[in-house]
Amino acid sequence: MRKLEKTLVLVGMMGAGKTSVGRRLASLLGVPFRDADSEIEAAAGCTVNEIFERYGEPEFRAGERKVIFRLLQEPPHVLAAGGGAFMDPETRARIKESAISIWLKADLDLLLERVSRKDTRPLLRNTDSRAALEKLLRLREPIYAEADITVESEGGPHEIVLKRILAALDARCGSGGSSVEAVPP
Ligand code: S3P
Repeated sequence: MRKLEKTLVLVGMMGAGKTSVGRRLASLLGVPFRDADSEIEAAAGCTVNEIFERYGEPEFRAGERKVIFRLLQEPPHVLAAGGGAFMDPETRARIKESAISIWLKADLDLLLERVSRKDTRPLLRNTDSRAALEKLLRLREPIYAEADITVESEGGPHEIVLKRILAALDARCGSGGSSVEAVPP
């Protein structure tokens, strides 16, 4: 059992596994799980695709910023951020200030395989998904690399990624950068 002192924000590309891993991580730590995209959809009363179609990407980003700021004020939990959220300088600064960021790093082939299962990502609709993902990856990787923790996700079972996250969090505790602490059962 661990006690979470700060919210853990999962960042990384679409298809990296932020939602699946985040849900399991939250349940392991005994804290709530929040998914920024779902929160935005609930607030807007329509899907991410519809927000992009009706209002455009800048409006979506503004909503995303607002929702993440709000979630960061809640008690410690696990938050899956949308793939573009950490690219926004204000959102990134706020995450750095008040949370622990974890980059789920995955390569292009894995991302492509995972995103092709759904049609919920407006940035990949009606376009060559590989080329679009490749371009985003090139642009975003240096920024994702600013996250507090980087965890490789090679497409095996999510449990492996979970173990890596827990080990990285333990290592931070050991080095004094405490975000979680072991508590007796
Ligand atoms: C986006 C990622 C999506 C969603 C939106 C934009 C991005 O979230 O926020 O489609 O810019 O990478 P996921 O990373 O959860 O798919």
